[in-house]
Amino acid sequence: MANSRGKDFRVGDANPCIRIRPATEADVSAINSIYNYYVANSTCTYQTEAETDAARLEWLKNHGTQYPVTIAEDGGQVVGWASVSMFRPREAYRPTVENAVYVRHDLLGRGIGKMLMIDLIERTRKAGFHSIMAVISAEQEASVRLHERLGFEKVAHLRQVGRKFDSWLDVVYMQLML
Ligand SMILES: CC(C)(COP(=O)(O)OP(=O)(O)OC[C@H]1O[C@@H](n2cnc3c(N)ncnc32)[C@H](O)[C@@H]1OP(=O)(O)O)[C@@H](O)C(=O)NCCC(=O)NCCS
Repeated sequence: MANSRGKDFRVGDANPCIRIRPATEADVSAINSIYNYYVANSTCTYQTEAETDAARLEWLKNHGTQYPVTIAEDGGQVVGWASVSMFRPREAYRPTVENAVYVRHDLLGRGIGKMLMIDLIERTRKAGFHSIMAVISAEQEASVRLHERLGFEKVAHLRQVGRKFDSWLDVVYMQLML
C-alpha cells in the first residue's frame, strides 16, 4: 500500500510495515551500524576495518541526486539500506552502476532485501542507467539467490581475488540490463 511519503509493504507479522525512502545525512550512523556488523563478521564485504561516519557521510554526499541510496524503515527504525554507485571511474563506464544492499543481521530472511532491491532497480532505471552490476563474494548464497530472483545473470567468476578470515575468496559478477 502506498502513502504520500513513500512506499509501504506488508511482509507478515514480523515486519508489519516497511517503508522505503531515500537516505538522508541523518541516516549515516544507522547505515554504518548495519554495515559494520558485516565488516567484522562476514565475507559479503571485503572491507576489513569499520567504516567511519565521516567517510560514510562523504560517500552519501558523493552519491548526490544522481545515484540512489535508500533506507528501509520499520516503525522509525532503519532495518536495511541499498545503493547504486559508480561502477568504475572512467567516463565511458558511466551508464553502468554497482549496487549494494544490506539488511540488519537480526532481520534476515523476511523479505526486506528483496523489497529494497525491487525499489532500487526501479529508481536506477528511472535515473537513466543502462545496467547494474552486483559484485558478490561467491559463497554468499543469500545474495546470489536474491539477485538471481530479480533477474540478474552471472556474467563472470573471478577466482581467489580476495582474502578475508584466512580464506581465499572468489567473486561473481552478476548483471541486470535495465
Ligand atoms: C543478501 C541480503 C540483502 C538478502 O536480504 P534478506 O532480507 O535476508 O532476503 P529476502 O528475505 O528478501 O530474500 C530474498 C531472496 O533470497 C533468498 N534467501 C534469503 N536468505 C537466503 C539464504 N540464507 N540462503 C539462500 N537463499 C536465501 C530468499 O529465499 C529469497 O528468494 P526467494 O524469493 O526465491 O524465496 C541479506 O542476506 C544481507 O544483508 N546479507 C549481508 C549483506 C550482503 O550480502 N549484501 C549483498 C551484497 S552487497
